[in-house]
Amino acid sequence: MDIDHLLTTSDPVAVDALKAEACRLRDAVYGRRVFMRGLIEISNHCRNNCLYCGIRRDADRDPQGANCPPGRRLRRYRLTPQQILDCCRTGYALGFRTFVLQGGEDAWFTDEVVCGIVEAIKRQYPDCAVTLSLGERGRESFRRLRDAGADRYLLRHETADAAHYAFLHPAEMSFDHRMQCLRDLRDLGFQVGAGFMVGSPGQSLATLKKDLRFIEDFKPEMVGIGPFIPAAGTPFENERAGSVELTLRLLAIIRVLHPSVLLPATSALGTMHPRGREQAIAAGANVVMPNLSPQDTRALYSIYNNKLSTGSEAAESAADIRLRMKAIGMDVPTDRGDYRK
Ligand code: 5AD
Repeated sequence: MDIDHLLTTSDPVAVDALKAEACRLRDAVYGRRVFMRGLIEISNHCRNNCLYCGIRRDADRDPQGANCPPGRRLRRYRLTPQQILDCCRTGYALGFRTFVLQGGEDAWFTDEVVCGIVEAIKRQYPDCAVTLSLGERGRESFRRLRDAGADRYLLRHETADAAHYAFLHPAEMSFDHRMQCLRDLRDLGFQVGAGFMVGSPGQSLATLKKDLRFIEDFKPEMVGIGPFIPAAGTPFENERAGSVELTLRLLAIIRVLHPSVLLPATSALGTMHPRGREQAIAAGANVVMPNLSPQDTRALYSIYNNKLSTGSEAAESAADIRLRMKAIGMDVPTDRGDYRK
């Protein structure tokens, strides 16, 4: 595959052929099926200060570093273990068999607390997979989570280029540690998700090619990509959003490079375009992640502006997505949707 050409060509015939090949490869591994994951946003507290992210530590301050007036501050929340289990109950009834617990790096969610939640979910719903997406932790911590029964872990690498990583993150964060986390997770037997934003500030053709090479070499079981969307109150709030078109093209390229990958049609794509998620499926994606978070906390998990379905209920988001997928001829099974080698 001529990746350089496919990344840059303006020939719609070549791009369509790429997407058709991506769908053919997906269907050969998984059939015409889209797997649902119930996303539960457990906390918007975060000790990190990623320059692009709307729930970064300094989202409580204005860009000059002073405290915001009370009305402008991001209200922080965390769900209780009971609230999380309630989301799972709702999700189970709606046919979800994977729950994704996602949150900022919140010290309240110690190993003990997270293990307790994972064990409770596994006890109540033994036929479900539990995915964690709680940022960087130490290897011992990952081991405890795995022993408690967590099946999968999502940790986007954000960029496979060390200098670009340093441009997107404060000095206290490290590219090497990020990559070490991904290797540890793999070693410990997690199905691992990596990924990156498309069109993040400082991204170039060269950094994208490194992302693709990383995916080809590491072969994460899951790869989450979506357009960068500026987030209010962040250093990048006035930057340009990433392109839907390039995101779709990259989805197709990733499917061709790694045919058995689980590839979500992300909410960021759905936010940028009313048919973004349908277009992602037509480019080779096969996962959707409707939101199961309580209605009153959704708007607070504001990692970027105008995030999709902040106003709706779990049942609404799930029904909407199911309908959309069936309308384009895809099955939406009640299934854990595990990785297939
Ligand atoms: N635009 C798009 N995606 C974002 N993320 C964080 N901030 C933004 C943004 N402004 C992505 C990051 C992170 C994931 C949870 O959301 O890639 O890993």
